[in-house]
Amino acid sequence: MCGIVAYVGHQPARDILIDGLKRLEYRGYDSSGIAILNSPPYLARAVGKVASLEERVWKESPEGVVGIAHTRWATHGKPTECNAHPHVDCTGQIFLVHNGIIENYQALKKRLLASGHAFRSETDTEVLAHLIESAYQGDLEAAVRRALLDVQGTYGIAVMHASHQHQVVVARRGSPIVLGVAKGESLAASDVSALCQHTDQVVYLEDNEVARLEPGQFSIKTLDNKAVNRAATLLEGGAEAMDRAGFPHFMLKEIWEQPEAVENALRGRVNHSEGVAKLGGLESVQDRLQQARHLIIISCGTSYYAGLYARYLFETLTDLTVETELASEFRYRKLNFPPNTVVLAISQSGETADTLAALREAKRKGALVLGLVNVVGSSIARETHAGVYSHAGIEIGVASTKSFISQLTILTLMALLVGRSRTLPYEEGACLLRALEAIPDQIREVLKQSDRIRELAARYCHADHFLYIGRKYQYPIALEGALKLKEIAYIHAEGYAAGEMKHGPIALIDPSFPTMALAPEDASYDKVVSNIQEIRARDGKVIAVTSLGNNKLGALVDDLIEVPRTREILTPLLTVVPLQLFAYHCAVLRGCDVDKPRNLAKSVTVE
Ligand code: G6P
Repeated sequence: MCGIVAYVGHQPARDILIDGLKRLEYRGYDSSGIAILNSPPYLARAVGKVASLEERVWKESPEGVVGIAHTRWATHGKPTECNAHPHVDCTGQIFLVHNGIIENYQALKKRLLASGHAFRSETDTEVLAHLIESAYQGDLEAAVRRALLDVQGTYGIAVMHASHQHQVVVARRGSPIVLGVAKGESLAASDVSALCQHTDQVVYLEDNEVARLEPGQFSIKTLDNKAVNRAATLLEGGAEAMDRAGFPHFMLKEIWEQPEAVENALRGRVNHSEGVAKLGGLESVQDRLQQARHLIIISCGTSYYAGLYARYLFETLTDLTVETELASEFRYRKLNFPPNTVVLAISQSGETADTLAALREAKRKGALVLGLVNVVGSSIARETHAGVYSHAGIEIGVASTKSFISQLTILTLMALLVGRSRTLPYEEGACLLRALEAIPDQIREVLKQSDRIRELAARYCHADHFLYIGRKYQYPIALEGALKLKEIAYIHAEGYAAGEMKHGPIALIDPSFPTMALAPEDASYDKVVSNIQEIRARDGKVIAVTSLGNNKLGALVDDLIEVPRTREILTPLLTVVPLQLFAYHCAVLRGCDVDKPRNLAKSVTVE
């Protein structure tokens, strides 16, 4: 969703800011804008792609070495030029960009209007520019701190004032801001992807902190004016991850990175001699984990499907009772929270607003709250009691792929850790670990089928609808496969538990409504085959994903994709890969913008 980039240095700010905005495009947005300090200050905003803003900026070629820029994903007010950020105060001196939502903006606006301020936009954000204007007495940072004391809601902001030509002030509460420091230059952004081309030295701002950026230096204070000492940390592998490395799309690159994603998720976390996982991030809560009886998993989107997989996984490997709930529905449930309840929040970005709200609710109810997060230092990572990072690396494609595979891998390690401390025998644990370590090479085998899957996609990509079916471990994968097709190829696809098919979807089946059936040779194989037969009896076309060497299915289905054999519990790590490739190739063949699908955002920071 919305993105921020700010620069204070010696290079033309327009180049750094436009490049930063392009790197934030993957998050999803509908308008953008830029302001650069100069006399007079420069302001440009545009609806649509950053390319339209860029065209204007190149034409007007503004000078200046200090500036802020923004990509906006409309919440309050339509995506118009006037509602795009930066917003400006009445004096035309203060420029501000904002991510998040100002919850009390109506009350603040009323007060500001009464004292004579004039508003130009329909946004909640604009109140911040006017609030800072009224608090300004010659020191921008002090004015920002004072103004923010009146604000309810969430914000990541960057502000500058025409009288402070070498300064940008940033602040955060609930919406990330990361600072980047280089020689003679300072940057800030809502996401490291906009900084990592310029520096590998970063500082994560915490909630209720304000930072003053000047060329090559920064200082941090709390909102109540206490100095904070925080050294920069090294950002690992940043710039490389931002490069498509010869792949036509980030999504394809990320699908191809999945073997390494599994390897990274396993690195240093496998203890063969004891058949158990070693998860340093959970050591501090080991005792509470040992006493746990109930597990509630909360997440959204693809991470929710990882949570659904984990339900079967934890039920198989541990004696915990498990519930998986959509984070956005969590607050409407009256779940039982006995003292030995653990809540696990799963999130790639670590910023999903619904997941954050749900975990706060769980904390309020006294649960031990754990996180499984990819983005280091993100809000969910910080607000949970303990957790594990997936170390999948930066994921740019809006449709999540390698993070999902990482999540499945780490959830298996977590279930193993809990299971082995209870009833799961050593031999079981050790076998599972050996099978997990074989997964990266098995994924490589699946990836070799990409060209064949493209041929399949060419035959099926004109379908208007698709059904995905699977049972048990394959049910979440059916949901995830259908989500991928919807997200990037804009094909209506339904994921269904195969057993539910005859309670509704079978009414839709005809020769133009194909089905993707997940049918590895596992305990529910025969039942899935019966479901396939029911579809074939109604002239429905079927593509089946099955186990390598299964020659019994070929005669029954139209097309077959084979994946290597592994333990049943791990099969999802292999069956999901052809579904990602299928969706990807369908999207490319249909001319869709794979990495930036319409209306979607990588990080959903509104509830
Ligand atoms: C958005 C993204 C999805 C992602 C979901 C949850 O919808 O487009 O790819 O699965 O948010 O995000 P999270 O970062 O919490 O995993």
